[in-house]
Amino acid sequence: MNYNPMRNLPADAGYKAGDVLVLCGELFGRGYANGIVEQARRLGMTIIGTTVGRRESDGTLRPLNQDELAAAEELLGAKIINIPLEAGFDMEPAANGLTPLDQLKGAKPDEWSTIRLDLNALEESRAAGTKRLRANLAAVAAELAKRVPAGANMLLVHTMAGGIPRARLFMPLLNRVFKGQGDKYLSSADFWGADLGKLCDWSFNEVTADSLAYLIDETASLRDQVASAGGKVSYAAYGYHGCEVLVNGAYKWQSYTPYLQGWAKMRLEDHAAAAWAKGIKATVYNCPEIQTNSSALFLGVEISLYPLLEALKKEGAGVAAEVTAACNKLLAEGATLEKMLERANDYLASPVMKPFDAISAWPHHSTNEQMEFMLTRSAELIAMNANPKEIVCSVLSGAVFRGVGKLMLDSSWEPQAPVWWLNHDIIAKRLAKD
Ligand SMILES: NC(=O)c1ccc[n+]([C@@H]2O[C@H](COP(=O)([O-])OP(=O)(O)OC[C@H]3O[C@@H](n4cnc5c(N)ncnc54)[C@H](O)[C@@H]3O)[C@@H](O)[C@H]2O)c1
Repeated sequence: MNYNPMRNLPADAGYKAGDVLVLCGELFGRGYANGIVEQARRLGMTIIGTTVGRRESDGTLRPLNQDELAAAEELLGAKIINIPLEAGFDMEPAANGLTPLDQLKGAKPDEWSTIRLDLNALEESRAAGTKRLRANLAAVAAELAKRVPAGANMLLVHTMAGGIPRARLFMPLLNRVFKGQGDKYLSSADFWGADLGKLCDWSFNEVTADSLAYLIDETASLRDQVASAGGKVSYAAYGYHGCEVLVNGAYKWQSYTPYLQGWAKMRLEDHAAAAWAKGIKATVYNCPEIQTNSSALFLGVEISLYPLLEALKKEGAGVAAEVTAACNKLLAEGATLEKMLERANDYLASPVMKPFDAISAWPHHSTNEQMEFMLTRSAELIAMNANPKEIVCSVLSGAVFRGVGKLMLDSSWEPQAPVWWLNHDIIAKRLAKD
């Protein structure tokens, strides 16, 4: 692991009308991808979307139907190549005809530690899932080859992350791992060591990490086509590996625990580094904790977002006053942003968090004490908002994904490294620029 925080702003991207941004993964209302799509649109780039597809009630993976496609294209504001790019293998039959979900039929959450899975069958399902995704990526690449104009530059943006197997018993268990305290606490290390943890590990690797490697492989001839017509080709992917935020007035690396996707996110970095070594410009941008559909499970992940307000002020971001005003409007009676920031800082600076402050030992497993501290503080901070569904963190998340989008687009024009950390300092600096 080579910690590589971006400290200097990249030059403005030279992307222009006719250049193409391909979004590999779907766009959701508050997801990270909104930032880069917004910035690409500002530059006049053509946006092309993709879909993960949908599952029929019998489990078959299919493209979007007409209504779903129209809704997705309206949200993205662009055309979508309607070939399902779902990654993972939880619904993929092994040679015996059974899927990983079939193996878990009837299993009860309280049996989690003794459930044994047929690992050979899982491996067969995994291979089948990989084969399907690769074939579908190749079909998307063939479609792109027809749509990218000669001479255009192309940026492929990988947003894919996830892979929690869709068996019923996972949600109650993962709720205990990520939100459980006291009697409900379930140690992330114990869960990770069980067969169910192994299934999650494999699945996270497929969805969050290896999907980037497959994308790079399956777009090899598209890459050659674009490059031989004089266009630049870059790949950009969203990573997470902790983030520096202001603690007691200085930028300090911290992270959310227990981030069980962390091993997959490091594998994602390795894929970018391996591609880079072959001369392919693939970069993972490790981004701050924000609130999105995907991070909703990780209660407490948002605590490190509060100090962004201070970073915006420190770096002179033009949006600081606007963001502060928008946050102020959401506060409960009697609450103040000063108090919020003080309580978030007290958490981040606490001795309870000390054992979790080594980036070299990341990702960390949970402890009962740390979970209780994090979840209690998270609840206390959320209670300072008038409406728990409309909180200060959503305003701050918007500022982060916009700043990240601008940085990723600029940096992708002349990529300099396979892995960057985009911390609160550089994001605030980029938001100060325009
Ligand atoms: N939210 C955070 O705090 C945070 C922090 C750092 C990095 N990220 C990363 O940002 C990226 C976008 O996530 P987000 O938080 O904006 O949430 P999101 O829910 O908006 O996006 C998740 C993406 O993953 C795709 N996806 C989900 N399951 C998939 C599957 N089985 N196969 C293929 N694609 C699948 C979705 O289509 C979507 O594009 C992810 O890589 C995420 O890990 C998020």
